[in-house]
Amino acid sequence: MPSFDRLIGEFDRALRAVSGVARAARRSPAEGVPEAGLDAGERAHAAALMRVNHVGEVCAQALYQGQSLTARNKETKNKLQQAVREEEDHLAWSAERIRELGGAPSLLNPLWYAGAFAIGAAAGALGDRWNLAFLAETERQVEEHLSGHLAALPAQDRRTRAVVEAMRADEARHRATALGLGAAELPAPVSDAMRLASRVMTTVAYRI
Ligand SMILES: [Fe+2]
Ligand SMILES: [Fe+2]
Repeated sequence: MPSFDRLIGEFDRALRAVSGVARAARRSPAEGVPEAGLDAGERAHAAALMRVNHVGEVCAQALYQGQSLTARNKETKNKLQQAVREEEDHLAWSAERIRELGGAPSLLNPLWYAGAFAIGAAAGALGDRWNLAFLAETERQVEEHLSGHLAALPAQDRRTRAVVEAMRADEARHRATALGLGAAELPAPVSDAMRLASRVMTTVAYRI
């Protein structure tokens, strides 16, 4: 059972994730990249795509939190720390970029967070191998998503693209980490269900 201090720490993390107040340890990849001359429609589209990515990062916070609260193996937990820190960078970078583009984070963030946390904790209850399988599959789907967004973003919006590209590279590493720690292979119906859930999330988050 996690200690009281630990639970308070996790709660603080949750609040920061949901409210969009994240601290990045690394500089944003957008730093030094000039702002492109986007028209209003392009800006709104890029902001909406970044809102979707930000929701994905809110969910990643919740999943990793659920993972760490339920993980049995200390070594697994420690090895995932790096990924956890990088996810917090993603959260901060995407929130910053949404603001730069004149958009707002999703109003439904508390809901997304709660849903992902419940799923993460349920996966955690099945044991580390499944827990890791779930993380690996999540990272894979996020990576696919980000590739889709790179295709959908305005070509000249190099600032947004720099953030998305850096996040995608990190997610690929996170997936490799989870696999390296002994993730099981998720049954196809489970990954299909995850894909469906993420489609709902991305469709809604594009709008609100
Ligand atoms: Fe991420
Ligand atoms: Fe990740």
